Amino acid sequence: MLQIGLVGYGYWGINLLRNFMSTPRCTVKTVCDPRPERQAIAQRNFPSVGVTADFSDLLNDPAIDAVILATPVFSHYPLAKQALLAGKHVLVEKPFTASVAHAEELIELAAQQNKVIMVDHTFLYTGSVQKIKSLCDTGEIGKLQYFDSTRINLGLFQSDVNVIWDLAPHDISILFHLYPERPVSLSATGKAHALNKIENIAYLTLHYGSDFIAHFTCSWISPLKVRRILIGGDKRMVLYDDVEPTEKVKMYSTSYEVNQSEQEKHKMLIDYRTGDIFIPKVAQKEALAEMAADFVASILDGKQPLVDGRKGLEVVRVLEAAEASIKQNGKEIFL
Ligand SMILES: NC(=O)c1ccc[n+]([C@@H]2O[C@H](COP(=O)([O-])OP(=O)(O)OC[C@H]3O[C@@H](n4cnc5c(N)ncnc54)[C@H](O)[C@@H]3O)[C@@H](O)[C@H]2O)c1
Repeated sequence: MLQIGLVGYGYWGINLLRNFMSTPRCTVKTVCDPRPERQAIAQRNFPSVGVTADFSDLLNDPAIDAVILATPVFSHYPLAKQALLAGKHVLVEKPFTASVAHAEELIELAAQQNKVIMVDHTFLYTGSVQKIKSLCDTGEIGKLQYFDSTRINLGLFQSDVNVIWDLAPHDISILFHLYPERPVSLSATGKAHALNKIENIAYLTLHYGSDFIAHFTCSWISPLKVRRILIGGDKRMVLYDDVEPTEKVKMYSTSYEVNQSEQEKHKMLIDYRTGDIFIPKVAQKEALAEMAADFVASILDGKQPLVDGRKGLEVVRVLEAAEASIKQNGKEIFL
C-alpha cells in the first residue's frame, strides 16, 4: 500500500485527495497546508487522514513514499527538490515548474535518486482527448495542419503567474500529446489590465519547421466561457468543445481541395466539399482517477507515466519563452 502526503489543500487539492483516497493500492496518510481552515475541511472530508502545517513532517515520515504538490507554481521547485532529496516519489501539479532550469534540475535529481517524477496534465486522461488522439493516430483527420485553442472565461486573477502560465499548459500538453512535431519558435502578445502588471489576456502562436501552425487564446476577463479546440487536417476537422455537457467531440468532413488551373497556371481552383458531421462515442470517466492510477502504477509497477518530467519540461519551455516574447511585444523567440 503506497502512502502519500498531499501538499496544498486548496481548490485542486480537494479533487486530488478524493481521487487518491479511492485509488487502489494507495492511501493519503497526511495533508499538509498552512491554513487551519483547509486542514479542518480535509479532516471533515476524510477523518482517517492526518493533517499538518509543516512540510518537514511529511519529509521526516518514513512511512510516506510519495508526495503530491498542489501548491502555487513558484513553490513546486523547492518543495519537489526537498521531497526528492528525502527519498520520496513526486507528483507535481501543472505547470511543472516556473522555469526551464528548475524543471531540468528536478529531472536530473529524480534520476539520481531513482524516484518517479510525474506531472499532472489532467486533460490527457479525459475520454475526449483519448478519442481525439485515436482519430489523429488512425489518419481519420488526415495530415494535421493546425491546432487552434480558445480557453477564456471570467477566471480567477492569479497573483504570481500570467494567464498563459495558468491556462495554456492544458492546451499545450494536449497539442504535444496529439501531434509529434515540436515547434521551432513562438511569438506571444498579452495585456495586463490590473495594477499588478500580470497579463490577464494573451495570444500565443507556435511556429513549426513544416506548414503546421498552433494558436492559443487565453483570458481571465471574458464573460463568455469558451473551452474549445479545433484540430484541422487535410481530410477532416475535429472540434473539441469542453463546455458541451455530453457531445464534446465532433468531426467535420466538410473540406476543400486546392487545384491549379491547367490553362492558367497562376489561377487556383478551390473545390469545396460539404460532408457529414460525426459525433464519436467518448468514454465518460473521471480523468483524475486515471491520473492517480497512473502515478501509483509508475511507482509500484515501474510503468512509464503518461507525463514524466521531460514532458512536463516541454510545456514549461513554451511557457517561459511565451512570457519572454510578451515582454518584448511579440518578438519571435526560438525554442
Ligand atoms: N490539473 C488541473 O486541471 C489543475 C486545476 C487547477 C489547479 N491546478 C494546479 O494546482 C496547483 C494549486 O492550484 P489551486 O487552484 O488549488 O490553488 P489554491 O490557491 O486554491 O490552493 C493552493 C493551496 O496550497 C496551500 N499552500 C501554499 N503554499 C504551501 C506550502 N508551501 N506548503 C503547503 N501548502 C501550501 C495554500 O494554503 C492553498 O490551500 C497549481 O499548480 C495549479 O496550476 C491544476
